[in-house]
Amino acid sequence: MALSGLVLAGFVLGHMSGNLLMFKGPEAINAYAAWLHANKGLLWGARIVLVVSTLAHLWTGIQLTLENRASRDGGPAVDATRRATLSSRTMPYSGVVILAFAVFHLLHYTFRTVALGGVEFGDNVHGMLIAGFSSKPVAVFYIVSMILLCLHLSHGVSSVFQTLGLRNERWRARLDCLAQLYAWVVALGFISIPLAVLLGLLK
Ligand code: HEM
Repeated sequence: MALSGLVLAGFVLGHMSGNLLMFKGPEAINAYAAWLHANKGLLWGARIVLVVSTLAHLWTGIQLTLENRASRDGGPAVDATRRATLSSRTMPYSGVVILAFAVFHLLHYTFRTVALGGVEFGDNVHGMLIAGFSSKPVAVFYIVSMILLCLHLSHGVSSVFQTLGLRNERWRARLDCLAQLYAWVVALGFISIPLAVLLGLLK
């Protein structure tokens, strides 16, 4: 769970940072996308790692959820439940929404088979993103999904610290704060693009 989560958390930070090139203009983001597509080894290597990590994350996530349910139904209340936060309690639900988002997102911008009105964008990723987020329901769906991603990441990253044995009583508050900061930076970075298109700041 921790290793696959770490890989996915690293990917979203990298993806969000690349997306911010939208604010530098069409040449910057289009050149970045063209560079990624030209580097087939890097692209396919990253795709394979992502698919394996996603499957491993889903499998271990389902198992953990079932184990938590079983211990909650039968056993005595454990100390951890008293510490449960909104993000920890909703991990399976935010996870399912993120998965649904990822499927939609791939169909939207990678396979380009939904919600783009059949327009051919070729290498114009900038134009595709503006067209994609000009649809209000689509932009709002992205923003809501990114808020849930923030919730999921903030607990997920705290849990990685726990697994690594770093989250002792002395460090708990500081590491939880770091995890929350990371989650908000990723979510707000992603949200900035559909929001800027909705507000007419990106054209
Ligand atoms: C506002 C938020 C986001 C925007 C604007 C965005 C934008 C894009 C674009 C434009 C592409 C296609 C790039 C290309 O073909 O050149 C893409 C691909 C992709 N995105 Fe996102 N993305 C967002 C959020 C996310 C999130 C949160 C995830 C993960 C949960 C994600 C996962 C992916 C994946 C897996 C691909 C496919 C990469 C590939 O193999 O080609 N994206 N994204």
